Amino acid sequence: MENIVLVGFMGTGKTTVGRLLANKLNRQFIDVDRKIEENCGMPVSEIFKTYGEAFFRQQEQLVIKDLLPRGNAVVATGGGAVLFSENIINLKNHGIMIGLEASPEVIIRRIGGDASRPLLNAPNREELVSKLLQERASRYRMADFSVDTSTLTAEEVSEEIIYLLLSNNLQISIPKQAARLPTVKLYHKTTVRKALVSNQLP
Ligand code: S3P
Repeated sequence: MENIVLVGFMGTGKTTVGRLLANKLNRQFIDVDRKIEENCGMPVSEIFKTYGEAFFRQQEQLVIKDLLPRGNAVVATGGGAVLFSENIINLKNHGIMIGLEASPEVIIRRIGGDASRPLLNAPNREELVSKLLQERASRYRMADFSVDTSTLTAEEVSEEIIYLLLSNNLQISIPKQAARLPTVKLYHKTTVRKALVSNQLP
């Protein structure tokens, strides 16, 4: 069965929402960054410091390639996983790709003083976030659905995703108790995109 794959910038809530969603859907939750940390025996920030970003990206690619074909999971990717076309192809071949979005201000607020994100460990965080968001915008747009999480709680985002899955006739099984959530409704800022196929990748 297909995975439900969450993509999006740092601080958009992929891990928190992913865990909640997996719980509601009785699925395994896979956090790609945590798997990389397990494989390398050190936190992401240490991997960047010791071996550099290119090595981290290789590990990211390996984890995605290895874990996605097992299916039936909710997968939270790291914010840069979409930078590589090979990852996007793997994610799309084995899952429904859901993009989580948030405004730069909300991202900065959510990340706060957290030093575990090596790409943002610099004094000019606002500038960095805007620059990276701009560079990556076209990549995040490859998601099949996007939810702007800026004004939503993680609970609301997870319900929104269940609503999207139910209302778009996707071949995905939703447990009855999750499908009957009384509060499930479509929030305003959700975009449903026509799924891009691999050969449309830049
Ligand atoms: C990264 C995002 C991080 C982590 C690494 C690189 C990125 O994951 O994979 O620090 O390039 O955006 P989160 O999005 O879970 O913070």
